[in-house]
Amino acid sequence: MNRKYRKTVIAGNWKMNQLASTIKPFMEELKANLPKNKTCDIVLCTPAVMVPAMIKAGKDCKVAAGAQDVSKYEKGAYTGEVSADQLADIGAKYCIVGHSERRQYHGEDDMLVNAKAKALLAKGITPIICVGESLEQREMDLTMEYVAYQVKAALSGIDAAQLRHCIIAYEPIWAIGTGKTATAEQAQEVCEGIRAVIRKIYGARPARAVSILYGGSMNAKNAAELLAQPDIDGGLIGGASLKPVDFATIVAATAQEA
Ligand code: PGA
Repeated sequence: MNRKYRKTVIAGNWKMNQLASTIKPFMEELKANLPKNKTCDIVLCTPAVMVPAMIKAGKDCKVAAGAQDVSKYEKGAYTGEVSADQLADIGAKYCIVGHSERRQYHGEDDMLVNAKAKALLAKGITPIICVGESLEQREMDLTMEYVAYQVKAALSGIDAAQLRHCIIAYEPIWAIGTGKTATAEQAQEVCEGIRAVIRKIYGARPARAVSILYGGSMNAKNAAELLAQPDIDGGLIGGASLKPVDFATIVAATAQEA
C-alpha cells in the first residue's frame, strides 16, 4: 500500500452467491467486526439484482455496492443485459470487468473488457479491471508479457483523467478459488510491473495514483503480508468475502503502516 498517493480498497466479489434476503444478517455481523477507524474503501460486488439491497444494508458501515458485469451497449434490444446507466441509476459505484471467469466461461476478450470499462466510465462507475495469467503462462515465463498486454488492451482509448477512476485487479487464474495464493513477492512483482506499464502510457503521476489490487485466495491469514507490499493497494476477495468475520479481518489488515 502507499496511502500517500492512492486509495486502499478492499473489494469483495460474491460471484453468484448469497441472496438479497441474506444481506441484512451478513452486514450486521460484518458491522460488529469491522474496525472503528476506516483505513480503506470497502466494496461488495454482488449480482446486479442484489445491488439495491446491498446499498440499503451497507449504509451504516460505509460499504459501497458494486456489480460484477455490465453490457457494453448503452441501451436497446439486448435481452438479458444490464447497462451501465441502469447500474448507475440503482446506485452501483463500482463494477468488476474482465474477471477470468467471464473471460473463460463467457468468451470475453480484451476488446470487450475495454468496451465495458468505457461504458462504466461514461456513467461515473469505477471499473475494477481484472487481469492475470494462467498457470501454463506462468510456467512458460510469459506472465508479465501477457498481463502487460491485457492492461494495455483494457485501457486502450482511456485518457489520464478517466484512469483516475479505474482500479486494476491482478488475479492470477491459478490462484482463484484454489487456496493457492501467489506469494507476496510474486504478487508484488506483477503489480509493480502493471504500474510500470501504466507509467509508460500515462506518465509517472497517473501511474503513482492508480490503485492496483491483488486477488486470488486472499484471506484473513495472508492479507496482511500481501497488503504490506508497496504496489498492492488492496484486494479483490472471493471466498473470504462471503464470511463476515474473515472479510472484516482483511479490512482490518489495511490499518498497518503503509
Ligand atoms: P478467491 O476469488 O478469493 O475465492 O480466490 C477471487 C476472485 O475471483 O475475485
